[in-house]
Amino acid sequence: TRRVIVDCDPGTDDAVALWLALASPELEIVLVTVAGGNAGLDRTLANARAILGLAQSDIPVVAGAERPLLGAFQAEVKVHGSDGLAGVPLPQGPAATPGIAADAIRASLRAAPPRSVTLLGIAAATNLALALATEPQLADRVAEIVLMTGALGEGNWTPGAEFNAAMDPEALAILMATGRPVTLATLDLTAQALVTPDRLAAMDRISGGRCWDACRQILHAVPPSRRMEHRGHPLHDPCAVAWMIRPDLFTTRPVAVQVECGHGPGRGRTHIDRWGRSGAPANATLLETISADGFFALLAERVALMP
Ligand code: BDR
Ligand code: CA
Repeated sequence: TRRVIVDCDPGTDDAVALWLALASPELEIVLVTVAGGNAGLDRTLANARAILGLAQSDIPVVAGAERPLLGAFQAEVKVHGSDGLAGVPLPQGPAATPGIAADAIRASLRAAPPRSVTLLGIAAATNLALALATEPQLADRVAEIVLMTGALGEGNWTPGAEFNAAMDPEALAILMATGRPVTLATLDLTAQALVTPDRLAAMDRISGGRCWDACRQILHAVPPSRRMEHRGHPLHDPCAVAWMIRPDLFTTRPVAVQVECGHGPGRGRTHIDRWGRSGAPANATLLETISADGFFALLAERVALMP
């Protein structure tokens, strides 16, 4: 079992990612930290509590960054709606644990043996970067860092940058520089995990508990992506979770990644060198392909069995 700290900004796909992680005995989530992102922090925090509450989980949920290290906060309301969950109401969850995300992450790492904790980042990297930048020696407690962020090609927030990377490029650059192994689920990977009408219909034929019902309602409510020519919408964050449970569904490649922190149009772009053009040593593992059928089967297999 891997011990995991999840940093999220729920978010429709964050909700599905959390349920998939909670439903998977391969992972032991020890802490959930929350940032503003898909909605403002008040909302993402309430959503995280509700998502965990629906799963009858009592894992501590701690609020973190309301905004990125630099620059202004902007919520991704077009995909996730103003409530962050595409208008699907969930019952209120248990109270948040008092404190600040970066402190809670540091406390959790301090209490852990060396190289024992996986950091799963499915939001802008602010909380994780603050934790590690303020106590860098705690990086040795980290087994690895798995992130949904970045893009090989076109972005989804600006033409050049993916949302999580664009929100806080400096934080992402800090995380990339800790020296611990980093794995990236980028937009080019998640575009292979499209929620299409056929897949939704297949999911509707499977009965499950209330988490599965909420998961299906949320996926029905997210509008199809213009970037995907309206064929469906990519299920970003759960891909990163699936990698931790079923690596056999993926192919990977070592890459050298540089995060663009300038203030021009390329801000937040992840320059991913797959072919050694830069001569820079590899500093990340890129998840290149995912078996979509295997991924959606895993989701159903796990989440349908939840409460
Ligand atoms: C990422 O941005 C957020 O809107 C999603 O939850 C995901 O983490 C995709 O670009
Ligand atoms: Ca997210």
